[in-house]
Amino acid sequence: MNILDIISKVKHKQCLIKDEICFFIENYTNGNIPDYQMSSLLMAICLNSLTDCETYHLTMAMLESGKTIDLSGINGITIDKHSTGGVGDKTSLIIAPACAVCGVYVPKMSGRGLGHTGGTIDKLESIEGYRTSLEFEEFISIVNKTGFSIISQNENLCPADKKIYDLRNATGTVDSIPLIASSIMSKKLAVSADCILLDVKYGSGAFMKTRQEALKLAGLMESIGQMAGKKCRCDVTDMNSPLGMNVGNALEVREAVEILQGKNKGSLYNLCVQLTADMLELAGKGNNKECTEMAENAIDSGKALEKFRETIMLHGGNYKICDDVSLLPSAQYSYEVKAECDGIISEINSEEIGMTSLLLGAGRITKNQTLDMTAGIVFDCQKYDNVQKGDRIMTLYSSTISDFSEISRRALNSIKIM
Ligand code: URA
Repeated sequence: MNILDIISKVKHKQCLIKDEICFFIENYTNGNIPDYQMSSLLMAICLNSLTDCETYHLTMAMLESGKTIDLSGINGITIDKHSTGGVGDKTSLIIAPACAVCGVYVPKMSGRGLGHTGGTIDKLESIEGYRTSLEFEEFISIVNKTGFSIISQNENLCPADKKIYDLRNATGTVDSIPLIASSIMSKKLAVSADCILLDVKYGSGAFMKTRQEALKLAGLMESIGQMAGKKCRCDVTDMNSPLGMNVGNALEVREAVEILQGKNKGSLYNLCVQLTADMLELAGKGNNKECTEMAENAIDSGKALEKFRETIMLHGGNYKICDDVSLLPSAQYSYEVKAECDGIISEINSEEIGMTSLLLGAGRITKNQTLDMTAGIVFDCQKYDNVQKGDRIMTLYSSTISDFSEISRRALNSIKIM
């Protein structure tokens, strides 16, 4: 077996057998296959795709490249949730404590921001003192105490995916349905929760630009999960506009706390209720109507906020932010972006908003860049709102950028008023 034959088979749309897939994963991970040959293979996969069966074997080979997590020390049914990436997506901060209130354990390993999309770990690190990297025993102990814990992804899980993902990022081979499905599912299976809910995003701010592509990715991931013996379900949700009103790390924690405080009942609240209800249903807590009521009660009663507070405390973070969001870090500089004409907001391009937030300091341009936790955007209006010339439509925040002239133009261009 050799890599040239494998590349040639994919190039000519011939099916790979399981052993060939295991061969290139094993040999790329241990350094026997160089980046240039792997890049060629990835590009062939991007152009010619893989069958569902090949994608399943690819997922399992990446899973077997590293360790898996043993959740048997958790005292009940466990569920994992994953979003395929978006702008303003702070749902995990609301959903995990809400599920915990309803008796479903959420041991969650999350990632950092990727490109224009945000990452849950970066958001949590905006809470002073919150430790995102814990010893395994402490992680399990917190999950058993409060019902959930969110820590950063363990380096020992799926090393093949880590290496391949970095290469895909640098070779224009990210947007391939079998590569995305195997990358996400290998990591989810490595965590080995009893159930998995995947929130597959589509739209301008997502990797899948159309709902049709997202449905295809969702179907493939669901079947990989089921083939691996998991209860797995996908929701396909809109990422054409940013989620909620705040984008940026501390600003998003602030909005999540306000939802948990019952101060905000907009579309973000509704999405969190829907995703929580779907997770509870998947975990066998009742039918969707019953689970929706449970999810609403968990948030409306303040019990989910209580869980969030307890978990932050056990992670060493400043839990007082749950009562007073002004204790979160705040920006030194701000700039109000105003409407230049009267009309209805017909589009808020979430990819552009994600990029604007990144440039304000909330995301990384280079790999190991330190983030400005205070940076980001707060909207005053949403899609379909009526605005008049001179109305403030958003405020930009940063502690690293004080001249907003260029960036405010970019922010304004991401909005269409008709
Ligand atoms: N998230 C992942 O973990 N992998 C992908 O390929 C895309 C999004």
